[in-house]
Order: sequence, then C-alpha cells, then structure tokens
Amino acid sequence: MGTVEAKKPEAPGAATAESRDALTLTDQRTGKTYEIPIADGTIRAIDLRQIKTGPDDFGLMSYDPAFLNTASCKSRITFIDGEKGILRYRGYPIEQLAEKCTYLEVAYLLLYGELPNRKQYDEWVQRITYHTMIHESLKKLMDAFNYDAHPMGMLISTVAAMSTFYPEAHQVHDVDVRTKQIHRLIAKMPTIAAFAYKHSMGMPYVYPRNDLSYCENFLTMLFKTPAEDYKPNPALVKALDVLFILHADHEQNCGTNAMRGIGSAHTDPYSSVAGAAAALYGPLHGGANEEVLKMLTEIGSVSKVPAFIKEVKEGKGEKRLMGFGHRVYKNFDPRAKIIKRMAEQVFEVTGRNPLLDIALELERIALQDDYFVKRKLYPNVDFYSGLIYQAIGIPTAAFTVLFAIPRTSGWLSQWGELLEDPEEKIARPRQIYLGYGERNFVPIDKR
Ligand code: ACO
Repeated sequence: MGTVEAKKPEAPGAATAESRDALTLTDQRTGKTYEIPIADGTIRAIDLRQIKTGPDDFGLMSYDPAFLNTASCKSRITFIDGEKGILRYRGYPIEQLAEKCTYLEVAYLLLYGELPNRKQYDEWVQRITYHTMIHESLKKLMDAFNYDAHPMGMLISTVAAMSTFYPEAHQVHDVDVRTKQIHRLIAKMPTIAAFAYKHSMGMPYVYPRNDLSYCENFLTMLFKTPAEDYKPNPALVKALDVLFILHADHEQNCGTNAMRGIGSAHTDPYSSVAGAAAALYGPLHGGANEEVLKMLTEIGSVSKVPAFIKEVKEGKGEKRLMGFGHRVYKNFDPRAKIIKRMAEQVFEVTGRNPLLDIALELERIALQDDYFVKRKLYPNVDFYSGLIYQAIGIPTAAFTVLFAIPRTSGWLSQWGELLEDPEEKIARPRQIYLGYGERNFVPIDKR
C-alpha cells in the first residue's frame, strides 16, 4: 500500500492500556525501553533520535534509501491502495473521473479539492485558455535548440526559462501570485510541448486558438500546417483527454517528490516543475512509455516474444520488461486497465497498431510466468499509453512530454499543499557516512 488512509479517531475513553497507539521499543544495547507514539499508522522518525547509547551518541535514525517505507508528507490529494488497485483523486475513483470529466475539470479538482460548479468551471477554462500564448522570446529560445533535440530536454529547459519571464513567481507565499503561475503553467505546457515537436520536424510553430478545447488546441498546434487546415478527430480528442486525466497525479512518485523537494526550498514553480519534469524524463519513471515502444519495435513480431521474456528473466534485472512493475501497485494498475480498453476504441478510428499484438502477447505470457507472478509485476500506465500516442501520430520521443503536460496539475496541487502545510520545512535527509575519518593533506608531489 502506498498511501495510509488516516484512521478515524476512536470514541473518547475507548483506548485501553493494551490498545494504546504507541510502539514500545527496547534498545538491546542499553536495555532501555522507549514508548514511541503511533499516529495515522506511522511513527515519527525524529522520535527515534532520543534512543542513544550515551551522551555523545547522535541518536538512532531510520535508513530508507529509496523511501520504501517512509511517508514524506501528509496529503489530502490522491489515494492509492496498491494491493487492491485503487486510485482516487480527492476521494473520487479514477474510473468515474475518466468516464465523466474533462481533464481541466480534474485539474481544478486536484488543485482546489472539489469539482467545480458550472460557473467555476467556465471561469477556470477561460483563465487557462487565455494564458496559452508564450512570450516570443521564449519561442526564440526554443529555436536555438539543435534540430534533433529531445522534446523532453526542450520542455524542461523552456519551463525553467519561464521563471526569468515571470520574476514575481518567486513570491511563493502569495496565493494570488501562485494562482497566476498555476494558470500560466497549465496553459502553456501544451504550447511548449507542441512547439518542441514542430521544432524537431523543422516546421513552423502553430499558435494556440482560444475557440478550441484544451486537447483540441493541443492536437491542432501539433498537426496543423500552414498548408492546410486541420480538424482533430473527436474520438482522439476524447482519448487524449482521458489519458491526461489518468496521468494528472499519482501521490508521492519520483517526479512529485522532486517537485516537493525543490519547492521546499521556496523555489519558484517554473524551476520546480522543470526539476519534477527532469525526474519524470527517466526511463524508470515517465520515460518508460518511450522505452515500451522501442522495446515492442525491437521485439518485432509475436513469435519473438517468448525469447524476449527469456532474456529478461536471464538478465536478472539488467534487462527489464518496460511498462511492467510498479513500486506501489502489486496487483494491477487501474490506469493501465482503462488505457487498454481505450486502445481498442482508438484503433477503431486509426486502424490497429501492429505493435498491439506484441504487447498483448507479452502481457499474456508474463502474467502466467512464475518470474513475473512471484514479483507481482503487472502492466503499468506506460505499457499501453505509447500505442495510443503512436496511433494519434505522436512521435515516440514526445511521449514523455505528453505525460508531463497533465502531471503539471498534480505537481502544482502537491506544491500548493506543501506551502500551506504548517509542518513544511526544507527537505533535507540525513546520511550514513561511511567514508574516511579525518586525514591530513598530502602535497601533490608526495601522492
Ligand atoms: N522487468 C523485469 N523484472 C523486473 C521489472 C521489470 N519491468 N520490474 C521489477 N523487476 C524485478 C527486479 O529485477 C527485482 O527482482 P529481484 O527481486 O530478483 O531482484 C524485483 O522485480 C523488484 O524490483 P525493484 O526494482 O526492486 O522494484 P521497484 O519497486 O524498486 O521498481 C519500477 C519499480 C522502477 C517501476 C520497476 O518495476 C521497473 O523498472 N519497471 C520498468 C520501468 C517502468 O515501466 N517504469 C514505469 C513505472 S510507472 C511510472 O513511473 C509512471
């Protein structure tokens, strides 16, 4: 389980000595016993510090290098139960949101905690729509990239550069200033993403249009050319909107942890989002969607799937089945289920992606194979999403950019929550130092 749902308080007087919310620890080094309070299913690591062998001892710390069992914050945004395959934003099941909402409605929900009413929604959409243009100098900055620059590298750098265009964004404790940057970031991410794509194709940029929805506008900026008009297919617009909903937030994953870590230094939101996007870029995280497509292409045909699975198993972790496995989901990823269903609908419009058969065969074999079953490895959100992106016509290198666009609303929600948290402090882990003790400097000719 990735998230601990806070337990409701017991009725007054219900606690007995036996059922106290505390952990009794005996330090075998000293024979001393300590009582550590338990709240929301956790102990506070700082409570361990009192456990010392003597006055010079720093005190006990916990060691958790990849945060396998450490809650880094309290949050009210996203709930995941990895064993049961449950994902909820602000209490609403992801399946309901994906079926009934637009991405911008969900972004509002994540940021403000409630679904918008009609008036709030219209105002919100208007705000986002009227912030989609980017500064012409930012466009020139994008022009400076090499023709084959990776779109994620361009996105990360351009978003970071935005902090120089909006210096007031440094006032992170001013709610009005924060709100303005939230509008700008959610609105401009698709524009930057589309410009990065156009740049890689050597094509002129297509400016945003205010008469189109968020996803219609994005597809138009991607695929319209000066030579002809472009009308996005409604089925593909809907599919993209659902993919954006599914990718909008995912509690304390690697990218969000980066967002909170950078944000904890009171860094402006553009630099923080750039840092979070850099984490997302990695192939073990959001970059996996690109890797899945490369992998399926490399396998090449259904008949070669068993040999590939064998290689993964014999590689003992060296070679991974990309799009499989998750730190939190140990049964199934509810997002992957929705995406797999949606892939069939998209292919009815675009024609079947031949790589789908390879993906289905990989999934079929892996789900029966002891290696994957024992390790609880199932398809994650990235396994099928790339097939849909490819069917829509998006090049493989741009897949992670399509993840970063909607995740921006999640990052900003988590960032806002962090800044409002009374327990908020700069994120600063401890370490176990295993290096040299003190030693004296040796001049260069004596080494
Ligand atoms: N293929 C083959 N073996 C795998 C895979 C995989 N995709 N994932 C994990 N394993 C194996 C590991 O080798 C390890 O085996 P061992 O116990 O014999 O050493 C065991 O399963 C546990 O793996 P860990 O790496 O400890 O699991 P962790 O929770 O740290 O990693 C991760 C999760 C990074 C997602 C991992 O499953 C992975 O690399 N998957 C492929 C990349 C991917 O799809 N990432 C996208 C995740 S979703 C997202 O971030 C948006």
